[in-house]
Amino acid sequence: MGDRCLEQLEGLPPGIPIFRGKVRDIIDVGDRLLITTTDRISAFDRVLTTIPHKGEILNRISCSWFSQVSDLVPVHILEELSPRTVVVRKTRVLPLEVVVRGYLTGSAYRAYQEGKPVSGIHLPKGMKKNEPFPRPLITPSTKESVGIHDEPISEEEILHRKILSPSLWEQVKDKALAVFRRGTEIARKRGLILVDTKYEFGLSEDGTLYLVDELHTPDSSRYWYLSSYEEAFASGKDPRQLDKEYFRAWLLSKGFQGNGPAPSIPVEVRRAVSERYIEAFEAIEGVPFYPLAENPEAETQIVLSYLERFR
Ligand SMILES: Nc1ncnc2c1ncn2[C@@H]1O[C@H](COP(=O)(O)OP(=O)(O)O)[C@@H](O)[C@H]1O
Ligand SMILES: [Mg+2]
Repeated sequence: MGDRCLEQLEGLPPGIPIFRGKVRDIIDVGDRLLITTTDRISAFDRVLTTIPHKGEILNRISCSWFSQVSDLVPVHILEELSPRTVVVRKTRVLPLEVVVRGYLTGSAYRAYQEGKPVSGIHLPKGMKKNEPFPRPLITPSTKESVGIHDEPISEEEILHRKILSPSLWEQVKDKALAVFRRGTEIARKRGLILVDTKYEFGLSEDGTLYLVDELHTPDSSRYWYLSSYEEAFASGKDPRQLDKEYFRAWLLSKGFQGNGPAPSIPVEVRRAVSERYIEAFEAIEGVPFYPLAENPEAETQIVLSYLERFR
């Protein structure tokens, strides 16, 4: 099984500052970053294994979404270097995960059931699970470092703690809603509902607000199949989802909830997760998935020759 392995940028010479996020490897080249989406998969905020083709799938989905919203907001992409590596504008990332939700589901529904506000928003009584909101809701979370869970935060707190200025927060909300609206329209044409998603924004040197990180990928978003929605909702069931729960569900079935040693993950499970990513790619992009990524050594070469230009 082609495993674009955990340390796929291993061949880099010493001295190149490489930062490893949970999923991405990042090389800082001054005013830009090289971001390689690896095949690593994280669950419960921990990196647990790799999934064949995952990096390429997520990067290609993300790139195609960025190009479909770039008329709405400046986006960070400068160049697509390979199927897994992009050159992006380096920004100062705002310390917020800007979550936008079109439907009452997931963690928002769990909070609602417990009678709690969702990121400070009090929802009307009597809403059902998976019901659409009259208008999409922004439910931000703090962006914490590795190992610390992100916490929902209210608009009031964002302003009170001066995390963002009121005018920047207004801009962030406007842009997030515009991108989400575009996302839902395009997804609908593919027979999908973009249920909720997470955006990250960053500021460039001159103070311009950029949409950064990843966009509308199955890792950062929840999608339902449109055709399954009405009937499922009417009968109180969950619509068919682009499956991102499979891996979590498997881990939970092994008694793993993020603490203590992780179970060893069999090849069949990794393959099954890979198939789900491929299915997600095909549903979102509307075309069959043919892998385009080179082997890890060739990928490293592509990155190296780009870096040469900065010598
Ligand atoms: N244009 C950008 N400028 C600066 N940082 C960025 C940009 N795009 C993404 N990032 C950051 O790069 C990291 C991506 O790596 P990832 O593996 O997703 O990390 P994480 O574990 O934080 O989710 C994130 O911390 C994200 O905020
Ligand atoms: Mg991330």
